[in-house]
Amino acid sequence: MDLDIRDMDLFSLNARLEQIETELALGLTRAVTLDEVKKLDASLLGKDGPLNALMKVIKEVSPANRGAVGQAINAAKQRIRASLDERSASLQTAAADAETSAALLYDPTLPGRFRPMGCVHPVTSVQWEIERIFTRLGFTIEAGPEMETEEYNFEALNIPADHPARDMQDTFWLKNGMCLRTHTSPVQVRAMRKFGPPLRTLVPGRCFRYETLDASHENTFHQVEGLMIDRDISIANLIAMAKLLLSEVMHREVELRIRPGFFPFVEPGIEIDMNCQICGGKKCPTCKHSGWVEILPCGMVHPNVLRAGNIDPDQWTGFAFGLGLTRLAMMKYGIRDIRVLNAGDLRPLVGVRRLSGAVIQEGAGTSGPPRLGISRPE
Ligand code: PHE
Repeated sequence: MDLDIRDMDLFSLNARLEQIETELALGLTRAVTLDEVKKLDASLLGKDGPLNALMKVIKEVSPANRGAVGQAINAAKQRIRASLDERSASLQTAAADAETSAALLYDPTLPGRFRPMGCVHPVTSVQWEIERIFTRLGFTIEAGPEMETEEYNFEALNIPADHPARDMQDTFWLKNGMCLRTHTSPVQVRAMRKFGPPLRTLVPGRCFRYETLDASHENTFHQVEGLMIDRDISIANLIAMAKLLLSEVMHREVELRIRPGFFPFVEPGIEIDMNCQICGGKKCPTCKHSGWVEILPCGMVHPNVLRAGNIDPDQWTGFAFGLGLTRLAMMKYGIRDIRVLNAGDLRPLVGVRRLSGAVIQEGAGTSGPPRLGISRPE
């Protein structure tokens, strides 16, 4: 309703003011933030607002009416101002109240919230420990490819294509003619070719075999290969090294059992077994009720392998071992089922790591079974 004030009587002016105040009331029901109140303020009382438009034409009203018109407009303006200010003030107080009550809701005396924390995987942890032991002994740490050639995985290790020893390692063959390495031994020849003698190297790594999964077999597992080549290396060096390695990792003296073993790339080949750390030698499913676990197949590097690595077997001798890292980690942490290691369920792994050390040390060894086992609830 756009009235021209010059023609209107006081009655129509009041109608117009009432209309503006209705607009105000409606605006206030919608304005719930200070910003919205400010916008409403500008639209009603601002330069281009309706009240200003009325003020501008006061001077054109007949002198007889001018005073009354001016007063009516001013009074309306004051009422509008007051309503807007009141709403702004109450919104400000509400915001301050909300802040105070939020502050009151925080209770600094409450106990903190537990945030589960990850940890190093048991296999990685043992791997790092072994790396530390061997770097102290002057070994370098090497890595080889997980996708390996037939030559490095078998042939250079004295296992020709028609040799029955190939059947000992169920192999994942790839379409490109390569395979997923079945052990870390291929890095022996890689290291010999790369460094030449004398040589001390340690190769932790992931290996793969076409296995049926059960509590002690995985298709993906870890080994650590050790290789030492020098002028007068003998089997005595190898056994001393094995004892040092296993005792340091288990943080206690372990008992070893030495048996002959056959691997085409060592001569003589031996198997070093450790007394079962799960049952302390008392016989359990993990040690297949024998009290011993095969942990360290090893031997003196076969002359053919030295030759494949361009090393003269008349000048140099060496030993090699292939430690079952996964199995050792299971022994160390009392993990009874190999499948939890790759399963991606962090609960048993975090539990094992956190509770390891003291508990397993006092429980294991010859004095009885460790009290920690992931099959038991924490
Ligand atoms: N590579 C052998 C295996 O995986 C282990 C081994 C390594 C044996 C080095 C002797 C010497 O079964």
